Amino acid sequence: MEPRAQPAPVILTGVDAIDEQHQHFVSLVGWVNDLSPAELETAAGRALLAELVNYAAFHFAFEQNMMREAGYPDAAVHVAEHEAIAAQLHAHVGKPSWKAGDHTRFMTFLWRWFVDHAEHRDREFAEFARGRTARSRRT
Ligand SMILES: [Fe+2]
Repeated sequence: MEPRAQPAPVILTGVDAIDEQHQHFVSLVGWVNDLSPAELETAAGRALLAELVNYAAFHFAFEQNMMREAGYPDAAVHVAEHEAIAAQLHAHVGKPSWKAGDHTRFMTFLWRWFVDHAEHRDREFAEFARGRTARSRRT
């Protein structure tokens, strides 16, 4: 699939790997946004939703590995937020059918958590990770 126009700016953390993954996630959300509720129930729509869920899980695991390796002191709070988001994501996507308003509620949920989480938790961690990298370069 081609990269799509961004419906919202990607929040940059300054850690390239995280920013690239956020960029891809924003593209996936954008493609979901472009589908109608009926299209989300087709095989292609379901596959796209599954990819979104899988990519979020991969991305959360990636960040959590980075936190472990970096000895990040606030990892537990961050991980708890990932788990809460993943549970809500599964609840939205696991519905047997999409009713009126479900698609809008899902998009609102996706953008809200993505912007809020990336802007706060991910930036806090990125700041810590960048500081740690800078310190290790100096020693
Ligand atoms: Fe995160």
